[in-house]
Amino acid sequence: MSWADIYPWRSPAPGEPVIRQIYEQVRAAIVEAALKPGQRLPSSRDFAGRLGVARASVVAAYDLLLAEGYAIGRPGSGTYVSGDLSGVAELRPAPAPSRSDPPPLPERARDLDELQFPPPQSDPRLFATGRTLLDARAQDAWGRSARRALRTLDAVHFGYSDPRGERGLRAAIADYLRAARGVVCEPDQVIVTAGAQHAVDIAARVLLKPGDRVWMEDPGYPATRHALLASQADVFHAPVDRSGLVVAAGVEAAPDAKVAFVTPSHQYPLGVTLSMGRRMELLAWARAARAWIVEDDYASEFRYSGPPLESLQGLDGGERVIYVGTLNKALFPGLRMGYAVVPKALSLAFANARQLMDRQPPTLTQAIVLDFMRDGQFAAHIRRRRIAYKAQRDALADALEARLGHLLEVDRPDQGMTLIAYLKDGRSDLAVEAMAQAGGVSVRAISRLYHQAPPAQGLMLGFSGFPARTMDAGVARLAKALEGLPPPS
Ligand SMILES: Cc1ncc(COP(=O)(O)O)c(C=O)c1O
Repeated sequence: MSWADIYPWRSPAPGEPVIRQIYEQVRAAIVEAALKPGQRLPSSRDFAGRLGVARASVVAAYDLLLAEGYAIGRPGSGTYVSGDLSGVAELRPAPAPSRSDPPPLPERARDLDELQFPPPQSDPRLFATGRTLLDARAQDAWGRSARRALRTLDAVHFGYSDPRGERGLRAAIADYLRAARGVVCEPDQVIVTAGAQHAVDIAARVLLKPGDRVWMEDPGYPATRHALLASQADVFHAPVDRSGLVVAAGVEAAPDAKVAFVTPSHQYPLGVTLSMGRRMELLAWARAARAWIVEDDYASEFRYSGPPLESLQGLDGGERVIYVGTLNKALFPGLRMGYAVVPKALSLAFANARQLMDRQPPTLTQAIVLDFMRDGQFAAHIRRRRIAYKAQRDALADALEARLGHLLEVDRPDQGMTLIAYLKDGRSDLAVEAMAQAGGVSVRAISRLYHQAPPAQGLMLGFSGFPARTMDAGVARLAKALEGLPPPS
């Protein structure tokens, strides 16, 4: 089969010679690049049948195309679009000039054009963020789960299904979150999404109307901020200190906010944990103000010393907290799967908002993830990753302290996949980022993630995507970049 087999060929009209009409049609399809070099043309018998003409007419039209170099014949195989059209094809005619100006670029499109997203996951350079490592055991287990899921494909996998996700998967996620994060939930409160970002975006759509006040952390995750701006919410940027979001600042400046978006386990980007005192303060404000909290618990699986603090959702009892998590960090970002756990009163609205976006999560991926979880592979993977990522974190922090301790103050986080190295001597983190990128290492300046709070100068480095033994070489490159910058005057 080739595209030529589904091309909308027209049967010849009365009047002009049939051979000429067939020849012109095929030639036009080639010249306009609807059929590409190397593609097989329909067999003369099939083509004649489809057009309702004698086979000899198709053969004659093909002969003309062969003679002019548009097509080539391969004995015993058929007729193909020529691999080299340079000598024969006329240029595709230029499109007619538009008679009127195109519509002006909408304001939203201009905002979106300005989005600065992190480099893609496929960025292979050391310290790129958002990367994970799957060991051979996890890869094998994933392959086995995929093969089992494929073998058991049935009508459910081929049809439309529940926009919240398959019930079995929602139940497995609820079991996991109850055990691992103290989340209080039933499977019907779980909405399977494409990831944490998708869940945050749905939350913004469901919870906010234009002009509503909302808190988010400063510095904070840019994609969350843009989801809030898209809802036309009035964003209050609440400062962050060593204990996480400064709740008192929000209570003072925007007590009437409808929602607070927070990253309590591992604040993005600083990596600090919201203290128990602040958790209580935040919940007390939310109860008094009758506000919602969106708890983005991304990457909370990876903690390195002692048990984590209980989730806000669990502390609250599940009435006012939308809990968001992601398998894209726990497993791998290409997976595109995460979840929201929503209070019962909101679960229908969330399901419908998800349905309006993309109908439902992919059934096959859900089946694979469910098999992987039921087989105990997910828990085993997380346990092994904690050990490996801790060693990677330590290798990176040790190398930074040994080589660059005079210039950087390294914060060794207890959780997550990234660490922050603060610049000690007033160098600009943007300048260091540019030099480092040019030198082949990917570090992110954190100053651009601030909005109202005075920006700290620091670098965000990802350690989860790179084996411990590679850290020294990366730090040597970073040292070269840093030392190549003139000290600030
Ligand atoms: C704070 C925060 N929230 C959400 C996300 C998005 O996660 P996902 O890939 O699951 O959409 C990230 C990714 O880096 C993140 O750092």
